[in-house]
Amino acid sequence: MVIISGGTLLDGTGAPRIVADVALSGDTIVAIGDLRDAAGTRIDARGRFVTPGFIDLHTHSDATVLGFPSMSSSVRQGVTTEVSGNCGMQVGLALGTPEFELEQRLYHGPRPFCWTSLSEFAAQVEEQGIAGNLAFLAGHGTLRKRVMGWQRGAPTPEDLARMRAFLRQTLEDGAFGLSTGLEYPPGSYATHAEIAPLVAEVATVGGVYTTHLRNEGDHLAEAVEEALRVARETGARLQISHLKAEGRRNWGKACEMLARIDAERAAGIDVACDVYPYTAFMTGLWVVALPAWAQEMPAEEISERLKEPGFRDRVASDMAEMEIDWEQLQIAIAPQDRSLQGRSVAEIARERGIAPHEAVLDLLTEGLVVAIVFAISEEEMRTVLRAPFTSVASDGTTRVASEAADEDRVHPRCFGTFPRVLGRYVREEGLLSWEEAIHRMTGLPASRLGLRQRGVIRPGARADLVVFDPATVLDTATFVTPACYPQGIEHVFVNGVAVVRDGEETGARPGRVLRRGQAE
Ligand code: CU
Ligand code: ZN
Repeated sequence: MVIISGGTLLDGTGAPRIVADVALSGDTIVAIGDLRDAAGTRIDARGRFVTPGFIDLHTHSDATVLGFPSMSSSVRQGVTTEVSGNCGMQVGLALGTPEFELEQRLYHGPRPFCWTSLSEFAAQVEEQGIAGNLAFLAGHGTLRKRVMGWQRGAPTPEDLARMRAFLRQTLEDGAFGLSTGLEYPPGSYATHAEIAPLVAEVATVGGVYTTHLRNEGDHLAEAVEEALRVARETGARLQISHLKAEGRRNWGKACEMLARIDAERAAGIDVACDVYPYTAFMTGLWVVALPAWAQEMPAEEISERLKEPGFRDRVASDMAEMEIDWEQLQIAIAPQDRSLQGRSVAEIARERGIAPHEAVLDLLTEGLVVAIVFAISEEEMRTVLRAPFTSVASDGTTRVASEAADEDRVHPRCFGTFPRVLGRYVREEGLLSWEEAIHRMTGLPASRLGLRQRGVIRPGARADLVVFDPATVLDTATFVTPACYPQGIEHVFVNGVAVVRDGEETGARPGRVLRRGQAE
């Protein structure tokens, strides 16, 4: 037995903190209270907060977990469960063939794409052993490519039947629901007539539907209505991913969407959202800078097509019409020239003496450049974070700092999301109470997922726990040096086993693949 003694418990429900000991045996919390006479290994938690392990509802760690099974960037934040397969993409459903170029590009790990189903992928993850728990969603875009490849337009009735059957199988394999990424192809090819019957499959098993909306800027409101319509018609639990309004001219719209969500909740629709505590996002430079029609191909082909003068000229003339804030667009990853990283497109264009859109076309002709876009209002992000139905979620991928530092610039949210909320927005700003903030990282996401044994401290629950110092907890990852672990996270238990002890990783891999419908 392990006894965490003298700590201040925030149990994940939002209830007021209490000072109490917690005893763990095997993978379970067995007792809470005054346990001074109990026998066992003691961890002194006086002056520390003891909370359930954090549950990150929105990650892409399906792409990296086989390469980084220590899940260091996650567990060192206190994250003990991650939901992978978001934004319509699930590496566990992808194959080694060309239409899965995106999944292959993001994948990091051994023996790539030797699986054909989620159950085979999950078995490989289990065989490898992982530090934290991992849950899966079926990704609509990946699923669609399995049936239709890169085909545009509506599926035939036979295609749709095959997608439904594939989804049903994936849900039986333990996926917790379906994700869509409607902003990018092939998700952008799908209309309501395709999405609704798939989400209906999710509803029949009580799963969750998470969506990266069709638009997060000028058409945010329509995109939210589209998602709400699916939820209303199918009865599925709806999770709007990384709610935000991109672009200065759209600031204020995310707050309006909070009111819409509130109204739908009052009308009995099970809808909620999540947010990451950053005002910039990273995405392909082509995604933010090229007209939509010029992106309708696998990303790798874009560089080649831009070498054709006719194509480039047509793209350039459309780009000249687009309103893009080039100062707010920074280069995150430029494989062809690392010295460009961290600089704005405006600055690069000035230096080269050309128009910003011409600079973008030059950069993209040379390689698949990734951008940081400062597009979100800090004030609005805070308002989204305060809404009672908002979970904290990273939209990151699990990593190891030493290996991520140079090869790829990652978004700091991979390393800092949860301690950033606790240190900056709770301790320093008092935006949320500690109890409320912990609830948004534990009990709330557990309920969105349908997990009953996690996200709460009570006897009988799984022993996923974090012990942290509320006086020092803070992120240290920045856009310039993103691969930095946070401070103040002292002990982290996954299924009763310490994966972080006194701030250091233990090397243990007690994590599990979580499967819907099993006693997780
Ligand atoms: Cu995502
Ligand atoms: Zn997304």
